[in-house]
Amino acid sequence: CCPLTYYYFISFLQALDNLPSAQSCLPFNRSLPACFNGFGRDILQAMQQQQMNAITSFIDGSVVYGSGPKVNNLLRDLCGLNGKLTVNEHFKDPKGRPYLPFEESLQSVCLHGEENVACFRAGDSRVNEGLPLTSLHLLWLRQHNQIAETLKHLNGHWNAETIYEETRKIIGALHQIITMRDYVPKIIGKEFFDNYIGPYGGYDPTVDPSASNVFATAAFRFGHATISPVVRRLNASYQEHESFPSLKLHETFFSPWRIIKEGGIDPIVRGALGTQAAAPHSNKLLTDELTERLIVLSIPQDMDLASLNLQRGRDHGLPGYNDWRDFCGLERIRTLEDFKQVVSDASVAERILQLYKHPDNIDIWLGGLVETFSPGSRTGPMFSCLIAKQMKALRDGDRFWWEADGMFSQEQRDELLKVSLSKIICENTDITEVPPDAFIFGKYPSGYVSCNNLPAMNLEAWREEKSEGTWDNNSETVQSPSKGKMTEVQQSTKATYSTHM
Ligand code: HEM
Repeated sequence: CCPLTYYYFISFLQALDNLPSAQSCLPFNRSLPACFNGFGRDILQAMQQQQMNAITSFIDGSVVYGSGPKVNNLLRDLCGLNGKLTVNEHFKDPKGRPYLPFEESLQSVCLHGEENVACFRAGDSRVNEGLPLTSLHLLWLRQHNQIAETLKHLNGHWNAETIYEETRKIIGALHQIITMRDYVPKIIGKEFFDNYIGPYGGYDPTVDPSASNVFATAAFRFGHATISPVVRRLNASYQEHESFPSLKLHETFFSPWRIIKEGGIDPIVRGALGTQAAAPHSNKLLTDELTERLIVLSIPQDMDLASLNLQRGRDHGLPGYNDWRDFCGLERIRTLEDFKQVVSDASVAERILQLYKHPDNIDIWLGGLVETFSPGSRTGPMFSCLIAKQMKALRDGDRFWWEADGMFSQEQRDELLKVSLSKIICENTDITEVPPDAFIFGKYPSGYVSCNNLPAMNLEAWREEKSEGTWDNNSETVQSPSKGKMTEVQQSTKATYSTHM
């Protein structure tokens, strides 16, 4: 099992890549291995190398709060006694809205030139990779603090811990709703969604909800082909911003200073809403900004995301493209003609087979990426299948899924369902017009609506009358709430966050 080398170089065929010899290889960190302890009956299994997850797989808002108690505590405003998340102490946006707190590191990769701005800290360590991602993190931080404030107002008798946990539970539910209702069906298409995921049928304890290797290492990396080479920044009329023009993608990597010194997140969020995701071109699956100018933490040279994806698949020992087609009940590719049937561009099929010699050798990430999209989707059938299976497992195997018994009252569920990513943008920025569904591109002003016309969640559904024995605002010990018994919701809140971490 455990290999001796964790760090090595991916070498390139110079003839193919036409690179100077100094750039003929890229550094590559192997994923940290987890070895089986002791030998069970299956010696072959005991000798397999597996990788460790660094974060939870559940869709539970851990991207906002972290996946373990250490990050969790760093992100909480423990002094304010208000259940909020901690915010940046040094800077606010032009309208006084908060920013994410800074990471405390002397050697921050985010410190560019004269811009003395450190990296932001959030529940996921990748928060600084690019400006749109950072903006999304910031929206959720602001949303948490807004909800916490309202809950404190509605339930003056709740202590800081209760406000925090109840808010976190709502944010987790919103992540689940937005991901599963608004995002996933558009990626895999309605047909795959209905066939593979279907309606929710309750918690299933036999389902393993961990992230599968093939999902993280290949299938969900389809997203890399949707990235545009330019991050647009737009003004209130969704036109090129006068003061902060659009940026090349590589100029946005690890650059939180641009948010602080260049007008906050509003221009970036408008840019994301008002720009179409890149459509993969068969001759160039990923933009050069990702294959020639990528920056990753701790590697002081430009990297290539396509190479990393392919090598990561091999590092994790993923079976090849054909085996995964088999796994999904799709025909194996045996000949060039077969391959041409599933790939939109025949010349791409030819070139890939020329390179790999045999269809069984094709790396799964590449094979999946070049498949023709299924109707109404952004992925081919193999990736749709793998993403659908994972999403179903994440939903059905989550005992705290927002629709699971006892999680929320019917009134609360109805309120949660009103929320959309567009409304969250409206409530946490100064943007006043948005497309009603943030995942559907619209060219401004066509189809855009005023933020006032989008439904909002009414937190009255979380009002809890204070009665004897209700949780005490000033007490650290949790007393039994009304009628001497914790409500189901409160019980599950407590359990959620100790179990999911
Ligand atoms: C500018 C945008 C993006 C950049 C710069 C970026 C960069 C990266 C990098 C550097 C890695 C690690 C590669 C490795 O060493 O194996 C990675 C992993 C990954 N990326 Fe992206 N990515 C971007 C957007 C996306 C999008 C839009 C998606 C999906 C919709 C996505 C899905 C993934 C997944 C699933 C992984 C594996 C994560 C894991 O194993 O925990 N990425 N990305």
